[in-house]
Order: sequence, then structure tokens, then C-alpha cells
Amino acid sequence: MSGLEGTIVAETALSRVDGQRGELILRGRLLEELAGKVSFEAVCGLLWEEPEGEVAQGLARARQVAFEQVSSHLAETDALGYPAALRLLLTHLRPDARVPEHHLAVGAVGVGLRAVLDRRAGLPPRLCEGSHAQAVLGKSDQPLRRALDCYLCSVADHGMNPSTFTARVIASTGAELFPALVGALSALEGPLHGGAPGPVLDMLDACAAHPEGPVGWVQAELAAGRRLMGFGHRIYRVRDPRAVVLKRAVSELQSQRIRLAEQTEEAALAALRRHKPDRPLETNVEFYTALLLEAVGFPREAFTAVFAAGRVAGWCAHVREQRQNGRLIRPAARYVGSLPPGSEAHSDTYVGG
Ligand code: ACO
Repeated sequence: MSGLEGTIVAETALSRVDGQRGELILRGRLLEELAGKVSFEAVCGLLWEEPEGEVAQGLARARQVAFEQVSSHLAETDALGYPAALRLLLTHLRPDARVPEHHLAVGAVGVGLRAVLDRRAGLPPRLCEGSHAQAVLGKSDQPLRRALDCYLCSVADHGMNPSTFTARVIASTGAELFPALVGALSALEGPLHGGAPGPVLDMLDACAAHPEGPVGWVQAELAAGRRLMGFGHRIYRVRDPRAVVLKRAVSELQSQRIRLAEQTEEAALAALRRHKPDRPLETNVEFYTALLLEAVGFPREAFTAVFAAGRVAGWCAHVREQRQNGRLIRPAARYVGSLPPGSEAHSDTYVGG
């Protein structure tokens, strides 16, 4: 089946992904002009059409409100993975007249993620000063904050990816913003979407331990019929532009792993060309995301939740756009089951009569 490949499901002014040129445009601006050069708050302002200063103040206020709302629910997250913990905290979120709902959503993901990370490190809940990146990071280390800010900008929005589509489908039914975000988070979690960067580090560990290094390990993986995490993309047929930006950012942090990562990338790309000569499979965003988030200090189990701390900006913008311009999203399916006598085969679209 198509997986809706190439199907236009919405009109958007938010972002465009050009898979042939390896280009990502956010409201008319190339990713390379933004990531590492402006703050996450500026990218939110671009997506939401709000001045950067108002976004910064709004998100700071929203973090306080979110902190009041989620702090008492932290114990409920103890047995959960990070994405599920964030989902649970979002289900407790309520609109508050003091802040716009999209500010509250982004603030809650930042505050909630930091609180869960701190709790697992044995630290009490706290409200960090400063920017969204600083709130997620939990400290004011300048190079780490800059690298994280660059990452959050890189993943803020990306066309009609599965989690954004999920948010738009839910919003198209007239549902509220927070349930749409819970759905989007669920779609983000799978390894074919936002769940890949943790397994990328597992892959690097395995390459380092393999007697023939990355070349031997990637060959064995492909021969066993498994996919290499951090490679391939539904849209990109060339290197993902976010991988370029993130590699530059992680190189500035002097990650211990960069040399091993480069060797693994080279071995994987060569093996994938032999494995699938007709299907270009290039490095995607998750490969250098894994290195960057590890160098910044997050545990690998939390990587998908950190992704959500950036993508939530895009989800909120898409929900607003869907409400403004969209109709109920309700595609059709072709029924291939058995039929009662007298019925004719057709899809479940309206067939007249
Ligand atoms: N390793 C090995 N083979 C691959 C890979 C890979 N990383 N990616 C695709 N292929 C193969 C598939 O097995 C398939 O082969 P087949 O035709 O013999 O079955 C062929 O290439 C085409 O793959 P599809 O699954 O049709 O491509 P699709 O567009 O659906 O998949 C996807 C894109 C899901 C990202 C895929 O490339 C993949 O699984 N990559 C690994 C996981 C990953 O890196 N996920 C993060 C994606 S980025 C993001 O969403 C933020």
C-alpha cells in the first residue's frame, strides 16, 4: 500500500521539505539561516507569527503555570518511559486564562521533561530561569545550551510528518489542542519516526565492539534483514539538511564519538548503496541527533522526548492552521474482505444513489 506517499492532505504555509534538493524551508526561511543562528523562541515566533520577545516572555510565564499544573502528578510517571511520562503530564494540562494554550503546551513539555529527568536523578522539581532550551537543559552551560537550541530549531517543524499529520487529524475533528498533542507524541515514539536516535547510539556501541568494526557490523545487520537506524527517509533522496546542521553543532562540542560516527556513517552509506542500488538511502536527522543529545548530557531513553520539546512548536502551529483552513480529515479505504450476496466491490467513499 502507498502509506499516503505523495498524497496532498493539507495546504500549509509553515514548512516545505524538498527531498530532491535536500532543503527545508520554514515560512520562507532556509533551515541553515535559522538553526545555530537564532533562538528556538525566534523559530516559534516565525511559525506562530508572533514577535520573538513576546514568545520568550509568554513561554517563561507558561512554564510557571505548567509547573503549578504538572508538579503534583510527577509520581505517576515513575513507571513510564519518557514519551509516556510526557503524555501523562499533558493529559493533566488545563487551559489557563493567564497564558495562550500553545505557550502553555510548549512550556509544559519543557518543564515536564526537565522535572521527569530531575526526578529520575533524585533531584526535587524546580523551575529553571531563561529560555526554553535552558529550561529543558536544566543548567546555564552556554555551549550546551547553544547546541540544544540549535537542535530544537532544527526539529521545530518538518512538513507533513507522521506526528504532525496525527495532530492535524485529531484537530480536524474539532478536538482541543492538548489531546491533539498527546496523539502526536504517540506517533512520534515509533522507531520509523522519532524513536530512532536512542537505537543509533546502540548501533555505535555495537560497531565499536564488533571485531571488524562498523563495516562488519552494518553488513551483518543488513544481511540479517534489519534496518540501519538514522538512514533513509520517506521524502529525502539526498542527505537530510538537518543532519548537516547537527553534525556542525556536535563537532563544536567535541563529542568523543564523532570519529566513530563518521566511520559508521561511511560504512553504512556504502553498504546501503550495495543493498538497495535503486533506492537512495542517506543519513537522516536522527543520526547526528543521537550524538548531539548524548554530548549535551541526556540519557538515550529520553531522546524522543527531547525531540518532542522542539517539534511541539510545529504541532501547535499546524493545529492552529488546521482549525483556520482545514476540513475534517477522513480518507477512504478499499475493502478487501468478503461480501454478502448482491454487494459490489468499491472503496468506502460515497458512491451515489
Ligand atoms: N536500512 C536498511 N534498509 C532500509 C532503510 C534502512 N535504514 N530504510 C529503508 N530501507 C529499505 C526498506 O527495507 C525497503 O526495502 P524493500 O523495498 O526491499 O522492502 C526500501 O528501503 C524502501 O523502504 P520503505 O520502508 O518503503 O521507505 P519509507 O519511505 O517507508 O521509509 C524510513 C522511511 C521509515 C525512515 C526508513 O528509511 C527507515 O526505516 N529508516 C530507519 C529508521 C530511521 O532512521 N527512522 C528515523 C526517520 S527520520 C524522522 O522521522 C524524524
